Amino acid sequence: MNLLDEGSVAIVEETDIVTVRQTVREAAGQIGLGVTDVTRVVTAASELARNVFKYGNGGSMTWKLLESEFAKGIELTFQDKGPGIPDIEQALQDGFSTGGGLGMGLPGAKKLMDEMSVDSSPQIGTRVVVRKWRSI
Ligand SMILES: Nc1ncnc2c1ncn2[C@@H]1O[C@H](COP(=O)(O)OP(=O)(O)OP(=O)(O)O)[C@@H](O)[C@H]1O
Ligand SMILES: [Mg+2]
Repeated sequence: MNLLDEGSVAIVEETDIVTVRQTVREAAGQIGLGVTDVTRVVTAASELARNVFKYGNGGSMTWKLLESEFAKGIELTFQDKGPGIPDIEQALQDGFSTGGGLGMGLPGAKKLMDEMSVDSSPQIGTRVVVRKWRSI
């Protein structure tokens, strides 16, 4: 797996979510994802960045463009140092929210992306990694 490019956006203020959206849109376009897939990735990134801001007391989004023999892909890592998610399985269910939201952010992001992993602990915070691939 080759790393083609990478970068990072701090998520401190609510307006940083706009920067995340713009950065992800540009990066996803670089690997030749179609318009629909770019929109899927941007929508997922927006939800995950909002969670970092709302529940994680802020953090960061790191993006990486990857290339293997068969595919190019975009990997996004959302990291915060917040209180963590006590029950990840529950948080991934449609409609579960502790913040009066729709509870569709995490399950929606999972559906929109090809891969998603969630790691969380009260000591370290929460890390969500998502990937989207395009065959070459
Ligand atoms: N980064 C995070 N740190 C701590 N808890 C989180 C984090 N992200 C999500 N959660 C927990 O998981 C729940 C589900 O998240 P999800 O994004 O699916 O829904 P929501 O943010 O509550 O509502 P919506 O995204 O639809 O507005 C949240 O209510 C919150 O309890
Ligand atoms: Mg959410």
